[in-house]
Amino acid sequence: MFSKEVYTNRRKALASGIKSGILLFLGNSEAGINYIDNTYRFRQDSSFLYFFGLDAPDLAAVIDVESGEEIIFGNDVTIDDIIWMGPQPAMMDKAASVGVNRVLPSDELGKYLDKAKSLGRKIHFLPPYRYHNRIQLFKMLGADFDNQRELASEEFIKGVVALREIKDKYEIAELDKAADIGYAMHYTAMRMAKAGMVEQELVGLMEGIAISHGTMPSFPIILSQNGETLHNHTHHQILTEGRLLVMDAGAETNMHYASDFTRTIPAGGKFTQKQKDIYNIVSAANDLATAMTKPGITYRSVHLAAVRVLAQGLINLGLMKGDVDEAVAAGAHALFMPHGLGHQMGLDVHDMEDLGEKYVGYDSEHIRATQFGLKSLRMGKMLRPGHVITNEPGCYFIPALIEKWKNEGINKDFINFDKLADYYNFGGIRIEDDILVTENGCRLLGEKRLPNTPESVEAEMSK
Ligand code: GLY
Ligand code: MN
Ligand code: MN
Repeated sequence: MFSKEVYTNRRKALASGIKSGILLFLGNSEAGINYIDNTYRFRQDSSFLYFFGLDAPDLAAVIDVESGEEIIFGNDVTIDDIIWMGPQPAMMDKAASVGVNRVLPSDELGKYLDKAKSLGRKIHFLPPYRYHNRIQLFKMLGADFDNQRELASEEFIKGVVALREIKDKYEIAELDKAADIGYAMHYTAMRMAKAGMVEQELVGLMEGIAISHGTMPSFPIILSQNGETLHNHTHHQILTEGRLLVMDAGAETNMHYASDFTRTIPAGGKFTQKQKDIYNIVSAANDLATAMTKPGITYRSVHLAAVRVLAQGLINLGLMKGDVDEAVAAGAHALFMPHGLGHQMGLDVHDMEDLGEKYVGYDSEHIRATQFGLKSLRMGKMLRPGHVITNEPGCYFIPALIEKWKNEGINKDFINFDKLADYYNFGGIRIEDDILVTENGCRLLGEKRLPNTPESVEAEMSK
């Protein structure tokens, strides 16, 4: 945990920006895999972690923004708990470690909220994403299941985003650590990959490294020779000479800060010329995105510059045609990169996605687009020092999408559909780095950068 002053200052900063009422924080509970006591690995809610630091199930907290009172709700362990789980610090001591001096048992929370409601106080809550907390909100506040995200407090969400999106030096140190674990995961997989292995063996190696250095992977590992499926979680195929392998994975530190890298490697250790040609375009788009990442530029314009590199490269190869700027304006490149350039990262791999991308990636001046491709850009607003983002351009050949565009004549002035027939078995390429926006520019997170050219990837694989 960070020092108690870190948490105290965060809570003060949050409360000072909210006009009135009570801020309700619901921590997470355990979730059963196949019966109640056989649980998934516990993961605390990230906003609860950010403001209250305690990494344990069944906690909640309130801040009364008018009186300044802060209370953590949670139960001390019983002798039965101690028999199965061992001794635990008292709730008062846990609360004191994050600067809170009032603790009430969990079942007092409903009564506390009833009293506040009877006094006409506003109770702010964040959009829930776990069923347990959705039931709690229904039971305690009568929040209708179908409208809980809409009933969440916009003022509270905006206050949380404003603080969490600018990383302080303690968080940056954790993010560098997460990046180093992510590096080790990818570097090991790159060195170990050999034709004849099953994809799953590499997933196991990467997951083991994440667990041995931190809590767990920051999201279920994406690793497949069918990299044209953007989030492919099937890992049953045998690595085969001539195919590409997309590996998208990162780690969570013990403090739950994330990393998120993608590298694409030749399954047999050597790229074909056709693969190198596409790889070099994606790598150039990635390099340009990093070079442009700095305060005072919108992330949407970094995205558009990166996809322009992609479109120009595909025009040079004869897979696209026409004027590059017109092609990008029409969204024609999105046939090959239907996703956005990147997203914010922090305690969540897609940071604060539970609070809504409308607040995290956009604001009143920067509104999400509706065009295919651009609408999947998770972040469009102005970059500021302390933002942490991932840049992850890619190029994919998705047969079903190509067929659809071809049959419907979508962007036919910009796509050479006939030439794409040779690419139906290509798969995809994505290259993703984690980046801190600094006062004057940016820097890559982590000590070392993973290989990002065909030559450097092949050199590592041949060692
Ligand atoms: N973790 C999927 C992504 O790169 O956004
Ligand atoms: Mn990723
Ligand atoms: Mn990502």
